[in-house]
Amino acid sequence: MSKNHPHPVLADRHDYLPAAGNDLLLPAYELISRLFGTPALHDRLIEQAELQPGHRVIEIGCGTGSLTIKAKRAQPAAEVTGSDPDPKALARAERKTHGLRGIRFERAYAQELPHPDKEFDRVFSALMLHHIPVDIKGPAIAEAFRVLRPGGRLHLLDIGGDTTPADGFLARQIQRSHSIAGNLGDGIPRLLEAAGFDYTLLDSHPHRHMGRIVYYRATRPA
Ligand SMILES: C[S@@+](CC[C@H](N)C(=O)[O-])C[C@H]1O[C@@H](n2cnc3c(N)ncnc32)[C@H](O)[C@@H]1O
Repeated sequence: MSKNHPHPVLADRHDYLPAAGNDLLLPAYELISRLFGTPALHDRLIEQAELQPGHRVIEIGCGTGSLTIKAKRAQPAAEVTGSDPDPKALARAERKTHGLRGIRFERAYAQELPHPDKEFDRVFSALMLHHIPVDIKGPAIAEAFRVLRPGGRLHLLDIGGDTTPADGFLARQIQRSHSIAGNLGDGIPRLLEAAGFDYTLLDSHPHRHMGRIVYYRATRPA
């Protein structure tokens, strides 16, 4: 274990599913992400979040930081943090900021955020929930609730809802994975409700390679 690591307990942990499913594929993640049309999904999520000047914002499971950086550019007067357990993805995210101020990246797990209660106005979760095991999803959503101020909002975009015969080959493979199971059907609304959120499904559309994409706005009651 690295004694110099700022979070020595985290230093050697690799108990997460990385962005592209495998460390070796990380350099290709941005390309895969573009081929999957993820930038447009991010744009829609950021628009839904109605970011305001002075907002404190965190993305959980930020990967290589694309959405975190876009959120900062969309509202330059917001303070933005990207958080992910994968140090390799975070290093790429840091490089992409090109010295932008008011943005930082930190190594952390969504289910163990190193932040006090009620610190944030917005939490983003984009395509992260399907990467975490079923028994961690509840604790991760509960952490999002804990770090939001009353009236603050979680904006979540992920694979969810019902599978359909129109789902493509890749979507069907993804749907077989164990961690996806907790996302499908009413999995996401149940998690939001259990954490105490008031939530609304803002949008939902089929995606050839991922199945159905859902967008939730979940508000911590005032
Ligand atoms: C498909 S990527 C999505 C990255 C980014 N949000 C985006 O939309 O491009 C999923 C991310 O979840 C992260 N992840 C996996 N387990 C996690 C956990 N327990 N807490 C937070 N992030 C996690 C992975 O490291 C990966 O970067």
